[in-house]
Amino acid sequence: MCSSYWNQAVDIFMSDRFCLYRNIAAVIGTAYVLRFLLKKLWALSGGFCAYFLAPWGISRINIKKYGSWAVVTGASEGIGRGYALELARQGLNVAIMSRSREKLEKVEEEIRSKYNRDVRVIPVDFSEGQSVYDDIQAEISDLDIAILVNNVGTGIGGESYFSQVDPLRHRKVIELNCQSMIQMTHLVLPKMLEKKKGIIVNIASILCLFPVPLSTVYSSSKIFVLHFSTALQTEYKSKGIIVQCNSPGYVATQLVGLKKATWWAVDPVAYGRSSVATIGLQHHTNGCLTHVFQKKMVEMLLGQKTAIPMLNIRRKYFLKRQSEKQKKEH
Ligand SMILES: NC(=O)c1ccc[n+]([C@@H]2O[C@H](COP(=O)([O-])OP(=O)(O)OC[C@H]3O[C@@H](n4cnc5c(N)ncnc54)[C@H](OP(=O)(O)O)[C@@H]3O)[C@@H](O)[C@H]2O)c1
Repeated sequence: MCSSYWNQAVDIFMSDRFCLYRNIAAVIGTAYVLRFLLKKLWALSGGFCAYFLAPWGISRINIKKYGSWAVVTGASEGIGRGYALELARQGLNVAIMSRSREKLEKVEEEIRSKYNRDVRVIPVDFSEGQSVYDDIQAEISDLDIAILVNNVGTGIGGESYFSQVDPLRHRKVIELNCQSMIQMTHLVLPKMLEKKKGIIVNIASILCLFPVPLSTVYSSSKIFVLHFSTALQTEYKSKGIIVQCNSPGYVATQLVGLKKATWWAVDPVAYGRSSVATIGLQHHTNGCLTHVFQKKMVEMLLGQKTAIPMLNIRRKYFLKRQSEKQKKEH
C-alpha cells in the first residue's frame, strides 16, 4: 500500500509537468554537495598548511608583524614554557607569568641565553582574584603586545565525583581556566583594537569535546574556553584580531604527572613549537598531528558527546585506582 503511493509519487515527479521542479531540485542538490565538499577541502587545507607546511616556515603568519612582545600565562613550565620559548625563537620578547619567581627566572635565563630576547618576569597567583590584574596591568601597559597566550590552567588533581571535591578547589579551576582568560583579554584587547592587529590564543583541552564525568568541572571549564574563543573571533575578526583556541591531547607535563615524553604524550617544547605554527591557519587546533589522531580516536571510540560510555570507562578506572590505593594503605 505504502509502496504504491510511493511509486505514484515518483511517477508524478518524473512526469513532464514537474520537469522544472526536478531541475531546481538538481541544482539545489548539486550546490549543497559542492558546498559540503568545499568546506571539507577548506578545513583540510588549513590542517595541511598548519601541520605540514607551516613547521617549515611555508604559509605561516609572521607574528612579529603584530607587535614586539608576547605575553604568556603559566609560563614557568609545561605548555606555557613551550609557547614562551617558541615565541622567543620567532623573534619576540616575552612577558612570562606564574606563581614562582624562581622557576620564571630559569625560563628567563633560558630565553636570554638561547634567543637573546628581552624577558619580563611577572610573578602572580591567578587564584587571588581581581587585584592581581591591576598589578599585571601596571607591568604590561608599556608593551607593544603581538600575542597573548592564555595558558594557565589547573585540574582537580585526578578523577573525583563532584561532591567529593572541595568547592574551593572547583572555584580555583574556574578562576584559573576561565576567569584569568577573560581578565587578561580585557587587559590586552583595547590596545590591539587601536592597532587593528593582535593575536589571542586560549588553551582548552581535548576534554572540551565531550562532557567528562569525574572531571566534570574541568571539562566544563574547557568548553567555556572553546565557546569564548569562537564567539570572540566572530566579534573581532573584521577588526584584525586573530583568536585561536588550542585543544591539546596529552602533553608530558606536571599537570598530567608525566616528566618524560612518550609516543602518546608529546614533549611540551615540541608542542609549543608546532602549536605556534598553526596560528592564523586554524581557528580551533589540536596543536600537533599526534593530537589530531588522539582526538579522532576518542571520537571514533566514544562518539561525540557520549557521556555514558565515558562515565563507565572512567568509573571503572576510578574504582580500580581507589582499591589499589586502599590495598597500599593496609
Ligand atoms: N598537559 C596536558 O596534557 C594538557 C592537556 C590538555 C590541556 N592542557 C592545558 O594546558 C594548560 C597548561 O597545562 P600544563 O600541562 O602545561 O600545566 P603545568 O605543567 O602544570 O603548568 C602550569 C603552569 O601554570 C602555572 N600556575 C599554576 N597555578 C598557577 C596560579 N595559581 N597562578 C599563576 N600561575 C599558575 C605553573 O607555574 P607555578 O607553579 O610557578 O605557578 C605552570 O607554569 C592548562 O590550561 C591545561 O588545562 C594540558
